[in-house]
Amino acid sequence: MALIEARALTKVYTMGDQTVHALRGVSLDIDEGDFVAIMGASGSGKSTLMNIIGCLDLPTQGEYRLAGEAVQGMHSDQLASIRNRRIGFVFQQFNLLPRTSALENVELPMVYSGIKSAERRDKAAAALTKVGLGQRMDHTPAELSGGQQQRVAIARALVNSPQLILADEPTGALDSQTSEDIMRLLTDLNQQGMTVVLVTHEADIAAWARRKIVFKDGHIIEDTLNAHEQKKWGQIPIQDDNLSEARNANTTLGSDPISFAAVEVNT
Ligand SMILES: Nc1ncnc2c1ncn2[C@@H]1O[C@H](COP(=O)(O)OP(=O)(O)OP(=O)(O)O)[C@@H](O)[C@H]1O
Ligand SMILES: [Mg+2]
Repeated sequence: MALIEARALTKVYTMGDQTVHALRGVSLDIDEGDFVAIMGASGSGKSTLMNIIGCLDLPTQGEYRLAGEAVQGMHSDQLASIRNRRIGFVFQQFNLLPRTSALENVELPMVYSGIKSAERRDKAAAALTKVGLGQRMDHTPAELSGGQQQRVAIARALVNSPQLILADEPTGALDSQTSEDIMRLLTDLNQQGMTVVLVTHEADIAAWARRKIVFKDGHIIEDTLNAHEQKKWGQIPIQDDNLSEARNANTTLGSDPISFAAVEVNT
């Protein structure tokens, strides 16, 4: 069973006498542990799909199961519960509360899930340490850089130990060096077992993922493995000594997809 199972999703927005067909029949499976980048022109339906996958919105038609639970028939309180149990969200504009410390921002999702105050503090502090902000817990968003604010948002997303991280243009407001730091962090979380789905307009950001899905006019028009993954899985070396060489190459690739992409598997 895939973590995400979407079948023939459509989404129609109606505004006055105008209707917009934002999704026109989207089917996809995403396995637990995958790392997926979604690309496509502005207005092609990426955020609409993310909102449905994230149980923030329901499809007009079609079926969606998250970890086997049928989402399409759920009421709003059931949607809130499944979001709280399974999903962490990261947005382009960070969406942190101003005048509120990093620690309190990260504690917020646990307030909704009814965790007691001392445990909240410990977990929030641990999440901030994990994203490299152990020394900045008392700072408000205005006292943090853009990259640090996005780290706080990521700590908030992972503090309830979700299975799934959904990130809609997480690097859209960041410079390229800071974007790389954020992608390294998302890669680490993925390697610890979290499923990551992100939307991006930038090819070099999408290249960090394992799989790339491209949208156009509410349809998926491309669904491929990224080049480094094709190298890893697509070419099976024939001779045994080459095979062990390839295995060694794979185990030394580490978490940096840049070096990952640069390694040539010898066949
Ligand atoms: N709440 C809404 N009400 C009405 N129309 C909407 C709503 N949300 C999205 N749309 C329309 O649905 C279509 C798809 O929008 P969506 O936000 O999914 O695009 P996107 O691929 O995320 O674009 P971008 O790259 O600009 O973020 C667009 O035509 C948009 O105008
Ligand atoms: Mg969008």
